[in-house]
Amino acid sequence: MRIKQNRFWMLVTLIVSCLCATATRAGDRMEWFNKARFGMFIHWGVYSVPAGEWRGKKKYAEWIMKDAKFSSSEYEKFAKQFNPVQFDAQEWADLAKTAGMKYMVITAKHHDGFCMYDTKLTDYNIVKATPYGRDPMKALADACAKDGLKFCIYYSVVDWHHPDFPAKYSQKGYHGDPNSDADMDKYVQYMQGQVRELLTDYGPIGIMWFDGGGSFKGVDRTKLLHARNLLDMIHELQPACLVNNRLEIGGDYGTPEQRIPGKKQETAFEVCMTLNRHWGYNKQDKQWKEAPEVIHKLVDICSKGGNFLLNVGPTPEGLIPADSIRILKKVGQWMDVNGESIYGTTASPLDETPPWGRITAKPDKLYLHVFDWPKDRQVTVSGINRKIKNAHLLADKTATPLEMDQLDDGFRVSLPDKAPDSVDSVVVVEYAGKPAK
Ligand code: GLC
Repeated sequence: MRIKQNRFWMLVTLIVSCLCATATRAGDRMEWFNKARFGMFIHWGVYSVPAGEWRGKKKYAEWIMKDAKFSSSEYEKFAKQFNPVQFDAQEWADLAKTAGMKYMVITAKHHDGFCMYDTKLTDYNIVKATPYGRDPMKALADACAKDGLKFCIYYSVVDWHHPDFPAKYSQKGYHGDPNSDADMDKYVQYMQGQVRELLTDYGPIGIMWFDGGGSFKGVDRTKLLHARNLLDMIHELQPACLVNNRLEIGGDYGTPEQRIPGKKQETAFEVCMTLNRHWGYNKQDKQWKEAPEVIHKLVDICSKGGNFLLNVGPTPEGLIPADSIRILKKVGQWMDVNGESIYGTTASPLDETPPWGRITAKPDKLYLHVFDWPKDRQVTVSGINRKIKNAHLLADKTATPLEMDQLDDGFRVSLPDKAPDSVDSVVVVEYAGKPAK
């Protein structure tokens, strides 16, 4: 009897878990991502030790190994000097949260092959090969969980250091120690093993963010990397984990890099961008995008239906550069007031961008992001065939109604003399009733 009962419950559990797994299809998996809109990208590795400078040249960052043509043994010396004792995972997560970001993507392994986590599959990792000897990924996963941020992992599929990665598949055929016996299938096993570790030992992972950085030119990387198996394994381990599009096997969303699409997109995307001109730490690079530019970019991206993954490149001491902190805190101040017009919004219902700024939307509302406060104090929106109920400034806690006129194919809102925010003042426009079907 007892055995029969146990079997019954095992069967029930099996059916329920199968149903749950099928329920976690792409649409559901994407829900948090579509709401989040703003995330922190972190490029951190032993390349931060030279801090962008080598033998008089100052333009390097995370590609320094290849660009300055290091051999693996020469490059390994940076690992021996890497001791980020000032690293404080909670500070990084808190900063992301303060900036209004909802997720964090960090480099567990970049093209240089150095592993920034406690992998059992190579000793070339931060725990075994550096004086620091601790696992920052673990600390960050915990800190993100505490702050309610999704923790996500960047993983480079190209590897300039692993003996089984064939040089011919990397960028311009570079490898720090090319091996004519390199065996791609063995490398693929290594990579699968590492992805398994990352999805097993660090709690729930929001995104596996793969990157090849222009490697595998002219070859079918999906086949070579056994990407289908990899994807299946990821979803077996963590059905809710998103995968970006750089395995070239579809993926959950697109990843335009350093550029914002010209118009709104039909499919999900995430623009990744540097805050200065480099991904990894470069001590000379002071060409920062200041907070107003970051805010405009974020809004522009949201108005086209995408997310913004904004990068910081921490120092070898383990600090996010002071300028990055300063800028992100300012962005956070704007987000504190205007976050409602970003999170959970969809693209503008219009194809054209208005002359005064951008539009984001929710089912019952529009958010007019006024970048340039018009001289005549009038903001006109055409091409909307719905009745408008009211309008107010998002920054106005009392939500004092603004004067507005319903037009034939839209509406006009009259603004007060002074813009509440010199960068982007948001007007909330509420629709009356439900949309016509
Ligand atoms: C490129 C670069 C890489 C960077 C990535 C971010 O692919 O190779 O250094 O990590 O872009 O998207």
